[in-house]
Amino acid sequence: MKRLIDKLRRTHRLSAEEYAALLACEERSVADYLRQQAGEVALAQFGNGIFIRGLIEIGNRCHNDCYYCGIRRSNTSVARYGLDRDTILACCKEGYALGFRTFVMQGGEDPSMTDEWMEQTIAAIRAAYPDCAITLSLGEKTREAYERFYRAGANRYLLRHETHNDRHYRMLHPAGMSLEYRLQCLQWLKEIGYQTGTGIMVGTPGQTIAHLVEDILFIEAFHPEMIGIGPFIPHHATPFAAEPAGSVEMTLKLLSIFRLMHPAALIPSTTALATLVPDGRERGILAGANVVMPNLSPPEQRKNYSLYDRKAAFGAEAAEGLRELSRRMEAIGYRLSTERGDYNHV
Ligand code: 5AD
Repeated sequence: MKRLIDKLRRTHRLSAEEYAALLACEERSVADYLRQQAGEVALAQFGNGIFIRGLIEIGNRCHNDCYYCGIRRSNTSVARYGLDRDTILACCKEGYALGFRTFVMQGGEDPSMTDEWMEQTIAAIRAAYPDCAITLSLGEKTREAYERFYRAGANRYLLRHETHNDRHYRMLHPAGMSLEYRLQCLQWLKEIGYQTGTGIMVGTPGQTIAHLVEDILFIEAFHPEMIGIGPFIPHHATPFAAEPAGSVEMTLKLLSIFRLMHPAALIPSTTALATLVPDGRERGILAGANVVMPNLSPPEQRKNYSLYDRKAAFGAEAAEGLRELSRRMEAIGYRLSTERGDYNHV
């Protein structure tokens, strides 16, 4: 197994069978070795600086009904909100003062939030913060919408594919949604010129090692600039309420594999990982992640952006908790970087 990991580090790829063997292997020493190698690669690539992104959850209204997600349309027990433009700009202002140079606007697929409104919001942030990166995470749109947002000043787009297996995709999403359109969106984003992020949840119901290998091969071929990997965590008001959460070990393993495959990728240590175990954020960094995304949303709305139960949004997971986050990173030999942290093509 260690030879496979060495090969992955050296050549950045394995065969499907080799990935499957690595994922299936439960030996502690192999997992430790994988994490150590990926941690070394991240350090060599980025030094000990961890990029910070301010996450602004701009609204939780959503016309989709994904079975895993707490803000799905059918969940009537969550209070719905949408931030107005001034509130979003105030979040950016606060974030800028704290040192953030990337703002990530994430939200549900809300038809009442028109492309025009979004375009103007992006343009307003672009005008006020010419030195900052604007990242969007707003789900599936038309190609035209992606183009308008890009022209208005957005630089990056996050859209996880969630699973690259068509049957599995349909187990997680209602009829009307398709893997095909999701992949089409990713292709458009890349063509338009966004730094594009994709990724998966680990441990969604029905997920197998064979599915994960398909995800790995897709990511290898698509070569996204950003890769988001977090454990699935059940939400009480969804069809998956009684399902178990994904495994921390498997999440870290995948994170390390992606780091070895793609040394320059921007890979966050996700909120879901930090939610599942108290030292999750640190363990993600040590396994090869190089980005954290503290919450910059208005504190009174954070509870409503409930993708899953107990989602961390305060303390080290919050923009106002940056000092605690900084302390925790320093405790493991890292520091927060206030650089913009664009993807570096080399
Ligand atoms: N557990 C973990 N992650 C989730 N997401 C949505 N619902 C959950 C959940 N229950 C993730 C999806 C989505 C991202 C914004 O949040 O992967 O792409």
